[in-house]
Amino acid sequence: MQICRSKQAMRECADAWRAEGQPIALVPTMGALHDGHMTLVARARDWLKAQGGGRLVTSIFVNPTQFGPNEDLDKYPRDEENDLALLRKAGTDAVFLPTVEDIYPPGTQTIVEATALSRMLIGRLRPGHFRGVTTVVTKLFNITRCDAAAFGEKDYQQLTIIRQMVGDLDMPVRIIPVPTVREADGLAMSSRNLRLSPQDRAAAPVLSRALDRAQQMVAEGVTLTALRREIRGVLNNEPRGETRSIDIRDATDLSRINHIDRPVVILLAVRFGDVLLIDQRVTHP
Ligand code: PAJ
Repeated sequence: MQICRSKQAMRECADAWRAEGQPIALVPTMGALHDGHMTLVARARDWLKAQGGGRLVTSIFVNPTQFGPNEDLDKYPRDEENDLALLRKAGTDAVFLPTVEDIYPPGTQTIVEATALSRMLIGRLRPGHFRGVTTVVTKLFNITRCDAAAFGEKDYQQLTIIRQMVGDLDMPVRIIPVPTVREADGLAMSSRNLRLSPQDRAAAPVLSRALDRAQQMVAEGVTLTALRREIRGVLNNEPRGETRSIDIRDATDLSRINHIDRPVVILLAVRFGDVLLIDQRVTHP
């Protein structure tokens, strides 16, 4: 496994592979890897296999431009040694671990932004967050020269924005969507789960329970108002969680809907202590 700690080292690696005609698949991450991330690695590997082989790159970069001034960039969990051991075991060909200075040298000005999608939902709560994501992902695509990249459905708005960006800017990168990987009790895997108190950890599967119930109701036929009321009821049954948002949107472009007459995505955000958990489910009437 090659460890590329600079743009130049990564580029040299990617150029050599491309010269050999090897397709490249990328898994962008911020590290602190868990089974959710490792499933992205496995799906990217499957994609390469279907191409008849290729090379797999995982990037680990805690991207400062997607953190707001009041969000704790410094407290983001980092565990390089463990991450590298996991990636080695999974058979990653290269890990890209750049420094902030290398990615954002002084004088950088250009940004990439999906204007409407990045301002709704999580974008309203975290202004500038998705602009940071689209800008860094564009850079990672360009540096690794990848043909495909895997993103988790857990961050559904992020995945939707990346698809929009790739379409709008004619980027030659295939997006591989990966369903949310869960703990045995249904809780979506996230590095934030480690910050939950034992009591909150025990209560947190209420998000997936609410989504299970919602999915069942959509399948049976339900109005938007009744669906929202039911979800709120399930979430309120767990007093440790503070419901921050329940959004039911068009699953393709996240636009508002009046009736459940197409595939919809249900997006939940619930706060436990100072940890905000999100979860989502795409469901068809
Ligand atoms: P990070 O939070 O490290 O997540 C990296 C990728 O793993 C994302 O595509 C995310 O959706 C996916 N992921 C996380 N938990 C998952 C789970 N339980 N099941 C399936 N996929 C999961 O998202 C980012 O980093 C950053 O914004 C990034 C795209 C790297 C840009 O900086």
